[in-house]
Amino acid sequence: MKKVIIINGPNLNLLGKREPDIYGSLSFDDFFDGMVKRYPQISLDYYQSNIEGEVIDKLQDVGFSYDGIILNAAAYTHTSLGIGDAVKAIQTPVIEVHISNTLNREEFRHQSFIAPHAQGVILGFGLKSYELAIQNFI
Ligand code: DQA
Repeated sequence: MKKVIIINGPNLNLLGKREPDIYGSLSFDDFFDGMVKRYPQISLDYYQSNIEGEVIDKLQDVGFSYDGIILNAAAYTHTSLGIGDAVKAIQTPVIEVHISNTLNREEFRHQSFIAPHAQGVILGFGLKSYELAIQNFI
């Protein structure tokens, strides 16, 4: 069975409560439970941290043994050379996802330190962005 992990960065623990007009009103835990039930053919894990170094540690932990990583590094996407370097350093393919379409938002959200090292990028489909990434790894 393929092993895939969703890694979420800062403030994504507040999904459902945070700016629901942009990010929706479903909590990530409820969404994740739905994905586990809908895709029993893969082993799906979930990790969230608000701390940059912990996101890097997790990428290093799983990046030589898992079959796929779905990464929403949230605001660190636009700032973190360290997370970008970690994605470059590991072997497991990474799909960068975003709930919102970062390209039609503020200019500072247009840059990604992850995209140059990702297998692909999915953005703007709400939580469905994660589901499209999961389907890629089936
Ligand atoms: C986000 C977009 C980022 O710009 C923002 O900082 C987030 C969430 C998204 O999923 O749309 O926290 O990654």
